[in-house]
Amino acid sequence: MGFPTVRMRRLRRNENLRKMVRETSLSPDNLIYPLFVKFGKGVKEEINSMPGNYHLSVDILSKECKEIKNLGIPAVILFGIPEKKDDAGSEAYNPNGIVQRAIKEIKSAISDLIVITDVCIDEYTSHGHCGVVRGNEILNDPTLELLSKMALTHVKAGADMVAPSDMMDGRVGAIRKTLDEKGFTDIPIMSYAAKYASAFYGPFREACDSSPKFGDRKSYQMDNGNSNEALREVALDIEEGADIIMVKPAMAYLDIVRRVKDEFNVPVAAYNVSGEYSMVKAAAEKGWVDGEKIMMEILLNIKRAGADMILTYFAKDAAKILNK
Ligand code: PBG
Repeated sequence: MGFPTVRMRRLRRNENLRKMVRETSLSPDNLIYPLFVKFGKGVKEEINSMPGNYHLSVDILSKECKEIKNLGIPAVILFGIPEKKDDAGSEAYNPNGIVQRAIKEIKSAISDLIVITDVCIDEYTSHGHCGVVRGNEILNDPTLELLSKMALTHVKAGADMVAPSDMMDGRVGAIRKTLDEKGFTDIPIMSYAAKYASAFYGPFREACDSSPKFGDRKSYQMDNGNSNEALREVALDIEEGADIIMVKPAMAYLDIVRRVKDEFNVPVAAYNVSGEYSMVKAAAEKGWVDGEKIMMEILLNIKRAGADMILTYFAKDAAKILNK
């Protein structure tokens, strides 16, 4: 049957009709807000490359987290900016490091906000790579031990979930084993499973001063021409014990989000990364796009593609609109 009996426009005639047949909905429940934590007191510095996002010191975190919770956002993910970096990234697994302190602060102030931590040493290494470096090589297996140590200090400080973002082979299994051995069998792992080597991370690297000092991340992050490979990465991480699978970046990788959702029966997260955020902000500032409408369109479409949750710098702004 077709036109004129069928008229697709009948159900688009007004907003109520459109609402009734809309297949996807977005809620603050679906959002995870990234926070950047820095040493100091009373620090709230706007990040140049990511307007509307801030470097925060530990003492103002609880106020910020209360606001996030009151907006109905269930979780934050923490990134740390250490005071000093070294070759081994030792601040990453210092029990008294910046993220470890931040977790304790948030957990003592608010009981029911999920605190996820990014587990990766690149913000802490002087060379800016996500693994142990020898010559020009990024070593896989020696890095696993550091990541496990890092994850353990986060969980001991009170983290509810850890999210390894380094793309070393075997890291999910290594972290799972360490956590289980120490009795943390109930702490979930959100794995950055299909993480591509992407220029969309530019503003984040500026924010964390974490660009690699030599070479690039192509020997560990995925090649952006690949899709089947993403499914292999995801399958391995699930087998190693990942509870939530992430695809990163989001917008230019929605086909991957969809394939992962169709192929595996696991919760899927998509990371709407810094470059995706800052492009919208910059264009809106110029008056070339409607920033709010584009934001909502992007987030809803990431969900439609198959993401159950979205890590996004838009989380607070979007939640404010969704709560209206
Ligand atoms: C690695 C990490 C990165 C991001 C999240 N975790 C940077 C990288 O891989 O270079 C990027 C997030 C973003 O761009 O918003 N610790």
